[in-house]
Amino acid sequence: MQGVALPPPAHIGIIMDGNGRWAKQHFQPRSLGHRAGAQNFRTITRYASRIGVKYLTIYAFSTENWTRPADEVGALMRLFKDYLQEALRDFMDENIRVRFIGDVAAFSPDLQALIAEVTQASATKTGMVLNLAMNYGGRAEIVEAAKTFAQKVEAGACHSQDLDETLFEQYLYTAGQPSPDLIIRPSGEQRVSNFLLWQCAYAEFVFFDILWPDFKPEDLDRAIAIYHSRQRRFGGV
Ligand code: FPP
Repeated sequence: MQGVALPPPAHIGIIMDGNGRWAKQHFQPRSLGHRAGAQNFRTITRYASRIGVKYLTIYAFSTENWTRPADEVGALMRLFKDYLQEALRDFMDENIRVRFIGDVAAFSPDLQALIAEVTQASATKTGMVLNLAMNYGGRAEIVEAAKTFAQKVEAGACHSQDLDETLFEQYLYTAGQPSPDLIIRPSGEQRVSNFLLWQCAYAEFVFFDILWPDFKPEDLDRAIAIYHSRQRRFGGV
């Protein structure tokens, strides 16, 4: 296990980006870039758990990713199945609890069954919580939360005047979890891309010019060091 000089923040989010460009650099099809990215997902997840990250949220598939060519979407769905099965063993060994955030009902029945199996099998784990964002969109999450709350008001179970930020958070996929402290996006892009829109209000962002398959445990250490060099003021002085 590699050591870090500084303790990690409680909640880290990662936007896995750059698989396509990595594939291009290696004269490979995009699907191979995603395969390399999925392998790295296992490596970084294990490392994060070992250095004491409490919550890790990984952006694996956005609500917008369905617009990619059908063969790329198909390759990603196959990867999810392969890697979830393989990663299941890691999660068990590492005491990781896996949760899925996003509208997983849109996936095929066999992928949904695997998602349910992973969720159930790891439910009693007490180590790091891994949130896998799959068919996730921040805007969709907020709209869903608003709808659920409105339905409760209509049913007479809640009063609209009781709604505040704390109550609203209970309707999000991440209910009960702390907001991310640090969000890392490799690949050189510097945007949020619909990731944890509500939850990222006071997150520190670190952008790296590294493509996701090349992102190493040392880069996670580096992002944590950058995080510690920032002064978080949460709107205060
Ligand atoms: C973004 O890179 C990456 C994705 C849309 C897919 C990420 C998914 C995986 C790595 C599979 C992980 C597996 C599990 C089980 C969680 P991009 O294609 O947008 O890269 P580009 O911008 O260079 O084209």
